[in-house]
Amino acid sequence: MNIQDVRLAVVGLGYVGLPLAVEFGKQRDVLGFDINTRRVDELRAGRDHTLEVSGPELAEAAHLRFSSDPAELASANVFIVTVPTPIDEYKQPDLTPLERASETIGRILKRGDTVIYESTVYPGATEEVCVPVLERTSGLKFNVDFYAGYSPERINPGDKQHRVSTIRKVTSGSTPEVAELVDTLYRQIITAGTHKASSIKVAEAAKVIENTQRDVNIALINELALIFNRMGIDTLDVLEAAGTKWNFLPFRPGLVGGHCIGVDPYYLTHKAQAIGYHPEIILAGRRLNDSMGGYVVSQLVKAMTKRRIQVQRSHVLVMGLTFKENCPDLRNTRVVDIVRELGEYSIDVDVYDPWVDPAEAQHEYGITPVAKPQQGAYDGIILAVAHHQFAEMGAAAIRALGKSEHVLYDLKYLLAANESDLRL
Ligand SMILES: NC(=O)c1ccc[n+]([C@@H]2O[C@H](COP(=O)([O-])OP(=O)(O)OC[C@H]3O[C@@H](n4cnc5c(N)ncnc54)[C@H](O)[C@@H]3O)[C@@H](O)[C@H]2O)c1
Repeated sequence: MNIQDVRLAVVGLGYVGLPLAVEFGKQRDVLGFDINTRRVDELRAGRDHTLEVSGPELAEAAHLRFSSDPAELASANVFIVTVPTPIDEYKQPDLTPLERASETIGRILKRGDTVIYESTVYPGATEEVCVPVLERTSGLKFNVDFYAGYSPERINPGDKQHRVSTIRKVTSGSTPEVAELVDTLYRQIITAGTHKASSIKVAEAAKVIENTQRDVNIALINELALIFNRMGIDTLDVLEAAGTKWNFLPFRPGLVGGHCIGVDPYYLTHKAQAIGYHPEIILAGRRLNDSMGGYVVSQLVKAMTKRRIQVQRSHVLVMGLTFKENCPDLRNTRVVDIVRELGEYSIDVDVYDPWVDPAEAQHEYGITPVAKPQQGAYDGIILAVAHHQFAEMGAAAIRALGKSEHVLYDLKYLLAANESDLRL
């Protein structure tokens, strides 16, 4: 297939799929497909609730149209799949959305078509899980009648500097010709350039280790924070001192939530275990990072007790619920561990997050954030997410929310060292 003959469809219009469809839609006809009709309606109305794409940017994508009708996909011959790859309650990969999307495409797949996957998976998933579904539902033969590609996404929700087109992109294909087609296609929109990997498995592995490396590195820094806190040494001071060496990596301690870093390592460990290797470092990192919410609350409770603040039925404000700053994304936020753990101590908790849709927070976690925190009301305040609104409030306004005797815990190093009572 020549690049001029590509008729593109993007399947799954979330944080990853929409910005991608918009970039392509500035240049060529693109069908944006999603099974969620509410999502399609809002996009047709020019609104993106994830805030990744603004109204004017959406309007710039003049050649992009949206649909939730699978029949419309039949007009495309190259499909980019950007559906979720979550984990289940046992922390095992849940490939159902990928399988469903592959079934939908398989039903309308034609000779010569190419299906490119972008969802984060373990090495082998495209060819071992998705391709068999495409073969079964289409009756066509892989690498004879149709082809596959894999090009992982590296966007960072809420980050307005690193956008789809300015992040170098890894590409791959099931044959050398298809790899070239996939690479050429992405080069049309990626100004930062591409890296053509030697195989689909290499590209899949590259993505999953990017996030695994981050997770393990943060776990190491979290462990250092646990050690330094026992010693009464300020962790950030240590990290800033060590950071003056050219090859010391600038990680910070904290909660590890979100759709990627806290989830993707389980895709790799699942595959490793399936082939008889039991990962040690990766899972140790996961355990440590997942325990940080409980640790934060134990630190707060100790500090309150030292100040003779009655813990039971005390009132604590948690500032920020999203998994990261300056975005409304609540998926897999570990701030909920803090809220639950506070509840274990019979502490009354107010959660305040100006970015969050309260109905979504209630639906996902049974937490309804307050519209506004009360003045002078709290025995403890945890700055859990570094939203710019909190930075702009500054220490004095944040402390004014507390009672005359309270503990202010700055989890995100948002304030100067002497402005909070505790930091991670
Ligand atoms: N969010 C990120 O920062 C990020 C970054 C890099 C990679 N990724 C990976 O990209 C993939 C997508 O993540 P996301 O954050 O965009 O997810 P998302 O939940 O924001 O969006 C997924 C969209 O796919 C739709 N969908 C689900 N099943 C479908 C189906 N069968 N057919 C068509 N549409 C379907 C959903 O309705 C939703 O709109 C995941 O594998 C994720 O790990 C995400």
